[in-house]
Amino acid sequence: MSGFASALADPVFAKLSHRIPPGEWALMHEDITAIRALKRERDAIILAHNYQTPEIYHGVADIVGDSLALAREAMNTQASVIVLAGVYFMAETAKILNPTKTVLIPDSRAGCSLAESINPGDVRTLRVQHPGIPIIAYVNTSAAVKAEVDYCCTSANARKVVEFAAKQTGTDTVIMLPDRFLAANTSHETTIKIIAWDGACEVHERFSAADIAGVRAQYPDVTVLAHPECPEDVIAASDFAGSTAALAAYVAQHHPARVALITECSMADNIAASNPTTEFVKPCNLCPHMKRISLRNIRHALETMTETINIDPTIAAQARISVERMLAIP
Ligand code: 13P
Ligand code: SF4
Repeated sequence: MSGFASALADPVFAKLSHRIPPGEWALMHEDITAIRALKRERDAIILAHNYQTPEIYHGVADIVGDSLALAREAMNTQASVIVLAGVYFMAETAKILNPTKTVLIPDSRAGCSLAESINPGDVRTLRVQHPGIPIIAYVNTSAAVKAEVDYCCTSANARKVVEFAAKQTGTDTVIMLPDRFLAANTSHETTIKIIAWDGACEVHERFSAADIAGVRAQYPDVTVLAHPECPEDVIAASDFAGSTAALAAYVAQHHPARVALITECSMADNIAASNPTTEFVKPCNLCPHMKRISLRNIRHALETMTETINIDPTIAAQARISVERMLAIP
């Protein structure tokens, strides 16, 4: 069979043919075939975030999911090598949870505006300003910041962690950093007071309530699903809010005829294949950091075994405490 014919015969193409033209897929398929072989050779697993492009998500990933799912998989995998197709803090979290494994990030410049918005010194200052108040870091932070806090959380468990941390510490207040919108949206789900840091996701802060009004005017039957990193008025105007995995689960369970996913654009592309009766409409925004990861640099990472994630062992051990406390919450 020719290279072109074998590319089109790959069952993954059937899932993606509505998004990727055959010629483009045939070019991608060379990297996909090489990556699949390299995974076997290196005893590697690819963990891909829901915002990765469809050819990564469907073509080479072993596990796909939200930040929480990827952290759990990284902790439990028996593979020797973990390739994190996502952003830097996700790769650091994998290394924190499974320090004996080689963790590779295909492009170490894949950052996050939330992780950039706070440093360990800022956390120490908060600790002095608010003695006795537990500090919760969103997983979208550096290992050094996680090492300074009491608990970690993700968008999938923020309310649970807030309530657990307050109960364990005997306070009615917690500090939640660095996302002011996740903090505000979580505060509407609990009676615990939340002191927030002033960070924001550069992708989700751009959505507005006017965007939702616009999409509802155009499609009166639309179901609007939003990520909790969006501003409060966006969440108020939406039908449901949750982590990327929760948004995908909502579509799979409810089969809405038309959905606006108020989050990163690849989400809709990735879940479209398994939800053929749902039409996905705009708006969406691209995350430039997630989009730094490509088939080409995943292949390069596995060929050269670079770039490896290395964390100072003292920082990693300290950060592990806050992440494991989160994972232990039922
Ligand atoms: P999830 O944990 O919901 O996948 O979100 C991660 C993220 O970076 C969203 O912008
Ligand atoms: Fe960070 Fe926002 Fe990109 Fe998620 S979408 S990785 S929070 S910049």
